[in-house]
Amino acid sequence: MNTVWMTVAAYLIGSISFAVVSSKLFGLADPRTYGSKNPGATNVLRSGNKGAAIATLLGDAVKGWFAVWLAIHFQSQLNIGDATIALVAIAVFLGHLWPVFFRFVGGKGVATAAGVLLGLDIWLGVATLVTWLAVAFAFRYSSLAALVAAIFAPFYYGLLFGVDAQLFAVFAMSALLVFRHSKNISNLIAGKESRIGSKSKGK
Ligand code: G3P
Repeated sequence: MNTVWMTVAAYLIGSISFAVVSSKLFGLADPRTYGSKNPGATNVLRSGNKGAAIATLLGDAVKGWFAVWLAIHFQSQLNIGDATIALVAIAVFLGHLWPVFFRFVGGKGVATAAGVLLGLDIWLGVATLVTWLAVAFAFRYSSLAALVAAIFAPFYYGLLFGVDAQLFAVFAMSALLVFRHSKNISNLIAGKESRIGSKSKGK
């Protein structure tokens, strides 16, 4: 029973779109109406408001981290196993991608995945973030950095912990993240992807 309500709660937490919430708080246009139309930190940055972009990044990451942290922190009290933690990790990520509060139109999951990975293990999160930063600094494409980091994340998890239910969760998140970036992949191949900080539509 705990598994069911925890998975549903994680999905609901993930369904809070901080791109939409912080844009409203900062008095900006809805990020689903400009740029890539993606409710995510990269697109909110295209509004020119760095504060709103940082708030989006932090909010979307913290919700992923918080759901997983709760499950791990109360694991013994709630008598849940690793499979439930894996389900919570996937559920909060799915909430971000297909949020019930926003007609199931959500983001691409980069910040939320980072939060989930940090919640599962600090070094897993740090290794993945360092990968993102390295690619972002080298090429200045947010999407490319996210794609490379997502591909590496399951390998990092496997190296740190071997094969278990949570590796499946990390792999599923990475696969969904790549799937959600299909337009970005086409743009990268066509040389049409916009670089970090560029206000151009690029899509
Ligand atoms: O955070 C999503 C990022 O990887 C790409 O966003 O708006 O450029 O499609 P965007």
